[in-house]
Amino acid sequence: MTYPSNADHPEQSRETRIVHSAAGAGASLPAETVGPAIQKASTILLPNTAALFDSSRPNYGRQGLASQMALSQAMCELENARFCQLYGSGLAALTGALVSVLAAGDVILVTDGVYQPVRRFCDGQLQRFGVRTIYYPADASPDAILALCPPETRLILIESPASQTFEMTDVPQLARLARARGILTLMDNTWAAGLAFRPLEHGVDLSAQALTKYVCGHSDVFLGSVCVNDPALEHALRQTMIDAGFAVTGEDAYQGLRGLRTLPTRFARHAASALEVARWFQQQPETAQVLYPALPQDRFHALWKRDYDQACGLFGVELNPMPEAEVERFLDGLRLFGLGFSWGGFESLATLSRPTRTASPWTGGPLVRFSIGLESPGDLIDDLDQALNRLRA
Ligand SMILES: Cc1ncc(COP(=O)(O)O)c(C=O)c1O
Repeated sequence: MTYPSNADHPEQSRETRIVHSAAGAGASLPAETVGPAIQKASTILLPNTAALFDSSRPNYGRQGLASQMALSQAMCELENARFCQLYGSGLAALTGALVSVLAAGDVILVTDGVYQPVRRFCDGQLQRFGVRTIYYPADASPDAILALCPPETRLILIESPASQTFEMTDVPQLARLARARGILTLMDNTWAAGLAFRPLEHGVDLSAQALTKYVCGHSDVFLGSVCVNDPALEHALRQTMIDAGFAVTGEDAYQGLRGLRTLPTRFARHAASALEVARWFQQQPETAQVLYPALPQDRFHALWKRDYDQACGLFGVELNPMPEAEVERFLDGLRLFGLGFSWGGFESLATLSRPTRTASPWTGGPLVRFSIGLESPGDLIDDLDQALNRLRA
């Protein structure tokens, strides 16, 4: 059904004509465009009464329309998946995946290097609903992780590389061992952006991303995704989204699509510049080690090289022991780098890391993290150099 054009109904009152004309009657798409329409709708107009109860067709806007559907499809292409569920943020994608598959009495194994708000969710909300979390050391081997799993274990959450301390997991091996024991694997794949690594191809069951980072790429949108191949998992993700009432706006989904168009190009540049800056850091006397698996000296380099096509622009630098006030003086002296959380945007960011650990405390020196943006790497190095010189003065 569509609202009839006003011109066809001169007998209608002015009030009705104004109300229905503002509904945009007959405003079919005037031209073909590169991107999908951003459809704004809570109500979906249905052709007849029978269609109201036809669950095989969209009947309410909350589940997403043209741009959300287009982004889901594009994410399936990126992650080589059959189905992608979108969420309003990366954190919502991870928590949405967890509540879709867990039940009271389950145990989950979570990397100690996990994004801190996920830990808060596990220790607070999941615990409230009778799900227990066990943390495993961020550099534990697959065998060691499996050895920590009690019989009630339902899922293992992987973040590789961990986004503050950059430990990596042998994901294919862990996925294989977990599947053999009937345990699901969920991976936070934000660092690889679905470009450098495709977890589903390596046996992982659920691949989540904060699209907020590299996919959207401009530090101005929250979005998340969970990709799966198993139809039972697809059903679980869809149903939880419907039951919980979470929604993604058409505008945000459109921004995700726009970001995807330039993702391969931006990502390669982020990685090339990050490698240059990371190598420079290796030469500085204040550096204890650079945590970036793309560097041959990184202890996870062989694993990264075996499984990953590329790196991204995010790495950590462990500094030699120094008072935190000195580290703050260095960071506060940066001119080109913004200071802030998040990463994967076009602009370079720096932050002081304070990893929250329970299974494997961080015993190294002060840790800083850099998200290398699309500026000239030479300018970024000059900026870092002048800020480090403030410490040397
Ligand atoms: C590794 C990782 N996963 C997930 C998230 C959450 O993403 P969002 O900020 O979109 O909720 C972040 C955010 O910083 C992150 O660093």
